[in-house]
Parts: sequence; structure tokens; C-alpha cells
Amino acid sequence: MKTKESGSDAKFATKTTSKESPALSALFKDSIADLYWAENHLVKALPKMISAATAPELKNAIESHLAETKVHVERLEQIFELLGEKVVAKKCDAMEGITKEAEGIVEETEPGTATRDVGIILASQKVEHYEIASYGGLYQLATTLGLPEVAELLEQTLAEEKLADIKLTDIAENEINYKAAEEA
Ligand SMILES: [Fe+2]
Ligand SMILES: [Fe+2]
Repeated sequence: MKTKESGSDAKFATKTTSKESPALSALFKDSIADLYWAENHLVKALPKMISAATAPELKNAIESHLAETKVHVERLEQIFELLGEKVVAKKCDAMEGITKEAEGIVEETEPGTATRDVGIILASQKVEHYEIASYGGLYQLATTLGLPEVAELLEQTLAEEKLADIKLTDIAENEINYKAAEEA
């Protein structure tokens, strides 16, 4: 394989600053505004999931992630400040869809059942995976645009989204999926 030096050349070529890439910079700001809408939407949506959930470990997990989500909103506000932009939210159709699906699962399952909890976990993990994809991509882009402080804030949130996802997997694997399998 004769690809040896092309990799490092390509990497070097992507190192630029936001001033040199107005279109990329605009796309980045737009994506931050989209995430800002999504995180604010979650601050409103997660309490509904907490009250719909039954297992205490699941309620606690979503509750502590709600507290983290409020910090995610603040970090995005800090990012707008670092970018010298005013705080703006752009409706995130994807997050609206995922949370609508979550509400549908709650409506279609019986209160107090492990089956409903499983549905809440499935929906919550879709939320986390969407966030992981968004923060992961924007972290890389911030680095490319030469914005290390912004990248650092995005990385902090990314780590919390990943932990939230792992916690939900643990809850499903260790307890709730088995309980649900025994339900009629
Ligand atoms: Fe978040
Ligand atoms: Fe999250």
C-alpha cells in the first residue's frame, strides 16, 4: 500500500482557522444553535420521562442526567460567548422526533410496568446517541477550526453523554430487561 504520506498531508491541510473558512464556520455555528435547541428541549422533556419511569435506578439515572443537561445548556452558552455570537436556538427536528417517539412509547405502554421502563431506556439511548454523534462531530470540527477552548467544552459534555449511555445500558442489562421479559 503506497498511502504512507497522504494521511499526514491530509491532516495538515485541514488545520485552518475559522477566519479562513467562513462557510465551515457558519455551519459550525448553525450546528451549535441546533444543539442548543435540542438541549433546552431535553430540559423540558426529561421530567416527563422521570415521572413515567418506575424503577428507582432508572428514575435516578434520568434525574442526574437532567442536572447534567442543564450544564450542557450553560456550556453551549459559553461557546456562543467564546465565538463572539449571541445565543441563538435553531429548531432541531431530529431531537423533536426522538422525544415524540419517547412520548409515544409512554402512551402505548402500561404505567408501572418494566416494559414501559424498557421503552424509556430505548428512547433515552437514542437521545444519547444523537448527542454523542453531534458532540463528537462538533468537537472534531472545533479542533479543525482552531478553537481549542470551544473543543474542550464540547469534549466535557461528550464524556457525560457517553457515561449516561453506559449507565442506561447497565440498568437495562442488569435488571429491567429481565423483569420486562417476565411480564405478561
Ligand atoms: Fe446533553
Ligand atoms: Fe444527554
